[in-house]
Amino acid sequence: MDNDNIVWHHHKVTRAERAANKNQKPCLLWFTGLSGSGKSTIANALDVALHERGYHTFLLDGDNVRHGLNRDLGFSDEDRVENIRRIGEVSKLFTDAGLIVLSAFISPFTSDRRMVRNMLPAGEFIEVFMDTPMDVCEERDPKGLYQKAREGKISHFTGIDSPYQSPERPELRLDTSAMAIGECVEQLISYLLHHKLILPCQ
Ligand code: ADX
Repeated sequence: MDNDNIVWHHHKVTRAERAANKNQKPCLLWFTGLSGSGKSTIANALDVALHERGYHTFLLDGDNVRHGLNRDLGFSDEDRVENIRRIGEVSKLFTDAGLIVLSAFISPFTSDRRMVRNMLPAGEFIEVFMDTPMDVCEERDPKGLYQKAREGKISHFTGIDSPYQSPERPELRLDTSAMAIGECVEQLISYLLHHKLILPCQ
């Protein structure tokens, strides 16, 4: 497409000014992992904990976004790449609003996660690898999808007949088979405090 005649318009209120009002810095916590690894559960629990402390957040989640913005996309490699590209752009817009964004998507490909990391200023992309063992995820099977995939009723299912490329150097690694929800949330909040992405509550 020819974008020659589209000029970037600089906003008068900057993203840093929007965030400073909220006692926080904009950032994107990117939860990646297999279906059933606990991405949505932990992202939701962190969302509640941050909200209760008065921080401003927004949560984006695979199943929900696929009902709206990305309803035209399936699970081929090509569609997953486009899924993550759009989520990356939307997440970035929310960080421009000064928010702490929590995004929970399988995002199985290293190159797509790197693409989203590169969309943001250094230090604002926090990769949270939900490193729950595959057999535990399959045992949980909260939506019955692993069973359907084993029976051949769903194709391209991550971990069965579609690959998951584990992050090599995630900022955080959480295993929900070994850690309680509260423990995971504590680690995430400590990370945010330590990196001054949130200021302690007054
Ligand atoms: S991603 O791979 O493109 O990042 P995304 O996180 O948006 O995936 O969506 C994953 C969700 O879609 C899963 O939690 C599951 O409920 C549902 N789903 C349906 N079909 C598949 C499939 N073939 N592979 C993985 N997840 C699927």
